[in-house]
Amino acid sequence: MENNMSIQEKFMNMSQDEKTEEQIKSIQMQQSTNQPWLDIRLTTEAMDYLWDDINGKQTDARNQLNGNISKSVFIEDKDNWFYENVVKELTEYLYYKDWNNYYSVHITKYLPPPVFKLYELWVNYQKQHEFNPPHVHSGIFSFVVFMKIPTHWKDQHALTFSANSNSPQASDFQFLFGQGNGHVKKIPLPLCPEDEGRMFFFPAWLTHQVLPFYGTEEERITVSGNIFFPPPEDSKDIHSTGTDQQV
Ligand SMILES: [Fe+2]
Repeated sequence: MENNMSIQEKFMNMSQDEKTEEQIKSIQMQQSTNQPWLDIRLTTEAMDYLWDDINGKQTDARNQLNGNISKSVFIEDKDNWFYENVVKELTEYLYYKDWNNYYSVHITKYLPPPVFKLYELWVNYQKQHEFNPPHVHSGIFSFVVFMKIPTHWKDQHALTFSANSNSPQASDFQFLFGQGNGHVKKIPLPLCPEDEGRMFFFPAWLTHQVLPFYGTEEERITVSGNIFFPPPEDSKDIHSTGTDQQV
């Protein structure tokens, strides 16, 4: 307890730059471990396709989504381009990373190669103060793409109420990763405008949350999607609204 207190006190006395350096070190350490998600940078072509999808047909999705945000809409992956050119490879990579899947499909050929499908794609328009509490997704794999990030995490963490904490987190995206013993490790992924075009691709069961940002009227725009195998039996499975299974 005494040791914990002294570490905490040490952190409280650090300057913002020192805290930032500590955070970056901690993130780099976490990323060198066996993380279950992929951290990808999309091409300009892929981003252009997503913007086209965003500017196409939209249907309100708020009552089927978890986020406490004022605008969420389902969009369509026109000509299945984003799935075929970006998502498919990542899906198969994560699926076959599990040796049991690779063994059954490619070695014994006991199972046929699964046919995955991107069943839903949506955009969140997040305003300041809005948030997306801890949740998981439906399906087998999911992703989030940061289309527009109007704030820099350094400025957000420097806001008085965040900077005075021993763990500044304003505006962060976070994965919450169970350690199997009841302990849940929080993995903060601070965001800034340079992250536009960054994509996290992750197992649908991986809990995550998005914390609020402050001080601008500009929106944060993200695109998310869920990949299914096997296909959901009906639409209720796609847009589950239970406590645990939420898109
Ligand atoms: Fe999510």
